[in-house]
Amino acid sequence: MEMVSKRTVRLICIASLGIMLLMICCANYAFAGSEILLNVIPRPVEFQKTKGSFILKSSAQIFIEAEEPLVRKVADYLSEHLAVPTGYEFKVVSSMEQAEKDSDDVIIFQRADTKDRILGDEGYRLCVNPDKITIIANRPAGFFYGVQTLLQLFPSQIESRERVSAVEWKIDCVEIVDYPRFKWRGLLLDVSRHFFTKEEVKQYIDMIVRYKFNTLQLHLTDDQGWRLEIKKYPRLTEVGAWRVLRVGHEWNRCDPPGPGEKPTYGGFYTQQDIRELVNYARERFVTIVPEIDVPGHAMAILATYPNLSCTGGPFQVNPGSAFYRKIENTLCVGNDQVFDFLDGVFSEVAELFPGQYIHMGGDEAYKGFWAKCHKCQKRKAEENLKCEDELQSYFVKRVEKIVESKGKKLIGWDEILKGGLAPNATVMSWRGIGGGIRAAKMGHKVIMSPSPYYYLDLYQGDRIAEPRAYSSSRLRECYAFNPVPKEINVDMVLGVQGNLWTETVPTLRHAQYMIWPRGFAIAETGWSAIHQKDWSEFTRRVEEHFARLDEADIKYSTSMFDVIFVPKKNSTGQLEIGLDTEIQGLDIYYSFDGSNPDQHYPKYTKPLTVPPCAIDIRVVTYRNGQCLGKQITMPLSILRKRVGI
Ligand code: ACM
Ligand code: ZN
Repeated sequence: MEMVSKRTVRLICIASLGIMLLMICCANYAFAGSEILLNVIPRPVEFQKTKGSFILKSSAQIFIEAEEPLVRKVADYLSEHLAVPTGYEFKVVSSMEQAEKDSDDVIIFQRADTKDRILGDEGYRLCVNPDKITIIANRPAGFFYGVQTLLQLFPSQIESRERVSAVEWKIDCVEIVDYPRFKWRGLLLDVSRHFFTKEEVKQYIDMIVRYKFNTLQLHLTDDQGWRLEIKKYPRLTEVGAWRVLRVGHEWNRCDPPGPGEKPTYGGFYTQQDIRELVNYARERFVTIVPEIDVPGHAMAILATYPNLSCTGGPFQVNPGSAFYRKIENTLCVGNDQVFDFLDGVFSEVAELFPGQYIHMGGDEAYKGFWAKCHKCQKRKAEENLKCEDELQSYFVKRVEKIVESKGKKLIGWDEILKGGLAPNATVMSWRGIGGGIRAAKMGHKVIMSPSPYYYLDLYQGDRIAEPRAYSSSRLRECYAFNPVPKEINVDMVLGVQGNLWTETVPTLRHAQYMIWPRGFAIAETGWSAIHQKDWSEFTRRVEEHFARLDEADIKYSTSMFDVIFVPKKNSTGQLEIGLDTEIQGLDIYYSFDGSNPDQHYPKYTKPLTVPPCAIDIRVVTYRNGQCLGKQITMPLSILRKRVGI
């Protein structure tokens, strides 16, 4: 009896396991179906494959139902984008030619009949049928994002900047409903440490909108340069926009300006440039948020107006030499001229940038000079402030009043919490998420932009194989970041932002390398539904998009294919080397003999002990016979150092 019951139990267990496996397989099957279907980043909220395919022909037309300037711009954008690789000319026609609307081979921009609540301002429905494509949206931005998805459905050659023959411009039929998770999907470009021209900023915008980013924060001022023409203070750009050139150095370690050395590196945007950029961005549904970083990071201001400092200077625009705590770069809080100056600056900034926010920086303000300054100390006493943090809070609150007097809202980095937050400020959390959590709990809106995950100037692979940086943030960590910690209400999180600081990023080409593919991860977190997160499915699409970036001649990092070193000190105090990869399914080959490994070399299966006298380990990754990761030559001395041997 007991035997029978045991067997029965075992049978039940096996049967349940079978059912579970079947369920998992079915789920995988459904998932695999969608995987084959869609290579879109960010992943759309809902999609369903339907029967057949659409083939784009030279006869195709784009219909816009209602003539509206911004919608026509979107249609023109699509027409121009399609025209380059296909070599076809796509006419954009409006409702006047309604009769033609029923002809074959059309792309229709259709207003949602009644306001489609689920879509909001940025969502869209995209239907691809064999004879027509329809994009339905409430607002022009929705059409724009529908267009971005549509372009991603075509073969990768659609991104080519030249005509491509012998490609069938075919899309599998599909129905998509899509809308963003967050309102704020930002990227920052630091144009102070290195200057990027107006044309380069336009290229940056063109790149980021492909992945549905809608906010560009321009870090316009810092110790290394003031980049914005201010009519009231022309010397800011005559003096503050220029520094001496230093190339390839370690940041904060290069030589300061030599005696008589001319500051020749730099540049700035005229107010006309800014109007042009703002308009360019607006037509691509991007809001430019200007950042004027004060009271710290202000050496370019002080080089121009030393009277705004505590000590009186003199100062020079910093080329990347040591400064923090050593050289003064902070505005004097005790000096009313500082606030008059900021009033003048923010008046012009507010007029130039139509968005609702102005970012005041507020980060990393060293207060050592305030502590020694009689004006700052007088202010502290008069205002009954207990410490320098409260002096900073006084400064931030005063800046908030100035910004609000211009009809704008204030944003600052999370240091603005120190000493008490300004009443209506929005906080951008960069030193992890703690500042964001604190601010949200106090009822302030936050944008999550934590450095360990969302700083795009950091190493994306092992530092030995990457361009110079100072810390690390791999794609996987970036993708895994959750911008809504459980302690706070999702409504308090405006959204997410990746920050490209440019101390070590001197060119747009290198900026591209640093942004992609981590920008894909941030785009997906900012747009896609949270339950859709799936690392291996994401990296599959990332690989598809590498092909698209190749077509567009945009640089990107392939570090996700590279080996991760996991060194360990074993029980006898010797080095043991574990090897890993960020993505699944890669084979690692290695050598200790000084030659370059390929797929005929030993394959890594378990942690390695080091042969006597070896100097380095060389590693490389392959998949299905194809080399994917770059070869990394790692000196064993470095691995030993990492584990303290
Ligand atoms: C920052 O990285 N100091 C905002
Ligand atoms: Zn002072």
